[in-house]
Amino acid sequence: MIAVSLLEVKQLNLSLRTHTGLAHILKDVSLRVEAGERVALVGETGCGKSLTLKAILGLLEGKGLVVSGKVLFEGEEILGTPRILRLRGVQIGFIPQDPAASLNPTFSIADQLLAVVRRVRRNLPKEKAWALIKEALVEVAVPDPDRVLASYPFQLSGGLCQRVLIATALVNRPKLVLADEPGTALDVTVQAQTLRAMRHLTEKSGSSVILVTHNLGVVREFADRVYVMYAGTIVEHGPVKSVFQTPRHPYTRALLDSVPRLTGGGLPQGLDGHIPDYTSPPKGCRFRPRCAFARPECAEEQPLRQVAEGHEVACVLYAEVPRG
Ligand SMILES: Nc1ncnc2c1ncn2[C@@H]1O[C@H](COP(=O)(O)OP(=O)(O)OP(=O)(O)O)[C@@H](O)[C@H]1O
Ligand SMILES: [Mg+2]
Repeated sequence: MIAVSLLEVKQLNLSLRTHTGLAHILKDVSLRVEAGERVALVGETGCGKSLTLKAILGLLEGKGLVVSGKVLFEGEEILGTPRILRLRGVQIGFIPQDPAASLNPTFSIADQLLAVVRRVRRNLPKEKAWALIKEALVEVAVPDPDRVLASYPFQLSGGLCQRVLIATALVNRPKLVLADEPGTALDVTVQAQTLRAMRHLTEKSGSSVILVTHNLGVVREFADRVYVMYAGTIVEHGPVKSVFQTPRHPYTRALLDSVPRLTGGGLPQGLDGHIPDYTSPPKGCRFRPRCAFARPECAEEQPLRQVAEGHEVACVLYAEVPRG
């Protein structure tokens, strides 16, 4: 029998109608997540990380969107199918980027959490359901869970709303959690606490995770593999150790160089320029206009090529580690 990945995204292309024309944002995005695996998705703001997660979750339907490709969950297509509606919140949990806009202002936290629990355990007695949602809040370090359960979202801080959303995504022990920067509204100590809780919970229930984050330290600590995205394309991916120790793509190198180091060495290197206009992106490698190593052949499509075990890069320099 051929082993099937838990999630497989194949050649996902996504364009959005905007007032300036069709924006070709995601281009041939392919990624996979195995059972129990923690995968990070990184890249600068606007590169398409949230859109990738939303496309997987079927949250972009009917939004002036042109989409092609495949999204397979346990080997079955979910892109543009009703199956995603049954999976979302049950087998696939989602921690959205914007906590304030993601909770319903008209229902208490308890009602919102109970509704999620009832999707899986319809006939669970009230006291048991209550104990379960309370425990879900304790697991993500919510102090005074009874008060939080009785509250409405507007009565809670951004950080508490975010922890409620993390609890909501995990309470049904989904097979896959898509986490879009779960911690941006939290201070660093609470951020570390919730990441630890997420790691503990996913380990306990064997869930897989796609974690979107700007924090490369978190990637190093949390993830098994990492995908590096630039302007809607995957430019490099592989085991975290391999990609961080030997980054091959000039963009990955720039991203890693932009992290301040405790050991000194001056200010981090920034990257000049900005991501391209998606209505007319550069042909071939989209990083070409900002790349110090660009050559004429970069105007052609660059396929992902294997450079080490499970480590692939879409760059003409794949055979060398660029210096400079
Ligand atoms: N509904 C929309 N209509 C038009 N353009 C959109 C829409 N949603 C996203 N975009 C554009 O698509 C691109 C990718 O957006 P996305 O939100 O996926 O980026 P991101 O990588 O998650 O960035 P960040 O790190 O800031 O969250 C951006 O240029 C954004 O402006
Ligand atoms: Mg985003």
